[in-house]
Amino acid sequence: MEKYELYRVMLEKDPENAQAWFLLGEECLEQNQLAEGLNAFSHSLKDQEIENLVIASLKKYLLDSEPELEAESESELDIKPEPESEPVRLELIQGKVVSIEKRLPKRVTFSNVGGLEELKKTIDMKIIRPFVNPGLFTKFRKKSGGGILLYGPPGCGKTFIAEATAGECGAAFYPVHIADILDPYFGVSEQKLRDVFETARANRPAVLFFDEMDSLGYSRSKAHSEHMSTLVNTMLAEMQSINTGTDKLLVIGATNMPWDVDAAFKRPGRFDKLVFVGPPDQEARKVIFKLKLAGKPVENGLDYNLLAEKTTHFSGADIENVVENAIENIISEIMETGVERFLGMADLLQIIEKTKPTTVEWLNTIKNYIKYSNQSGLYHDAAKYLNQG
Ligand SMILES: Nc1ncnc2c1ncn2[C@@H]1O[C@H](COP(=O)(O)OP(=O)(O)OP(=O)(O)O)[C@@H](O)[C@H]1O
Ligand SMILES: [Mg+2]
Repeated sequence: MEKYELYRVMLEKDPENAQAWFLLGEECLEQNQLAEGLNAFSHSLKDQEIENLVIASLKKYLLDSEPELEAESESELDIKPEPESEPVRLELIQGKVVSIEKRLPKRVTFSNVGGLEELKKTIDMKIIRPFVNPGLFTKFRKKSGGGILLYGPPGCGKTFIAEATAGECGAAFYPVHIADILDPYFGVSEQKLRDVFETARANRPAVLFFDEMDSLGYSRSKAHSEHMSTLVNTMLAEMQSINTGTDKLLVIGATNMPWDVDAAFKRPGRFDKLVFVGPPDQEARKVIFKLKLAGKPVENGLDYNLLAEKTTHFSGADIENVVENAIENIISEIMETGVERFLGMADLLQIIEKTKPTTVEWLNTIKNYIKYSNQSGLYHDAAKYLNQG
């Protein structure tokens, strides 16, 4: 967000600087902050030349945010993904971008995810590059099936980073809750699971995201059942039938309870990478505060360092809650007093004081698993995090 701040400073000095407004608008679109971008553009509309630039810029943004249709033709049988929504129409009325007919299908990408830099690098190398450019990788190794299993405390971005991975790959995102698949009637769960894979295959490129992987299979906490084992086998067969090199179908799993995930899933060719998505560190919390406060009516010069300092162990979702609660408070205050004002440090700190991080309980649980079940090898990254903290 460096450019963003630069343009803001320029505009503080000269609010009439149409070019700076335009550049700020472009930067906002780059960061997927559509509302703020449109607002900046509407300030920039001084002359025909900038108006043309704005229109070109918005067109590009709209094209980029359309789900990518496969450019290269693979086979005649390929079914193209359907665009997620109808084309969007922007209106310029008296030189202002005033309305948008339909909300844009907003794609989450890595730029929306604060921190997790190591993880982003791993995902980029191991998943995105082979996915986007399979040729090079298939030459060297042919890999079938397999996926990564994300684990970590609630609200730290497992689902979010999976969705962002799909966004980075220009792939459709299919989140699946295992609970929605489970059905008491024999054979129904298996059929539902096959349908999910079928749908994702028909809409390639796609990322299939299975949440709550711990509830699939026979874990220590649940009774061993025949029913579950056929479902596990169906899942394994489906996963192994994917050729990651050519199928453009990716499976990502997630769980808060990796110790309860059926051991069959942790073998090679299945979810063979167990990846820790931990609470954001101080630097990441700073970024997440900036991301969540972007485009909100906040005072100038918020002390993001202090916000990050005061929120040890807070998850991304906890930070999002802090911001939302602070905004709710200020809205009711303004409604009561009728006096408008910006959101400031005191509003945020007051909420932070009253908030308990939701990750602590989970961190204590895994600490015990690592200590008593000799699984520090398996949960290596989590152990590393605990040792730092
Ligand atoms: N690193 C992050 N950067 C930005 N936002 C984040 C981050 N982590 C979490 N969030 C915010 O918190 C919300 C919840 O995160 P998410 O659903 O991905 O957590 P999760 O790890 O899947 O949790 P659960 O275990 O409860 O499913 C996200 O929608 C996002 O807005
Ligand atoms: Mg989740």
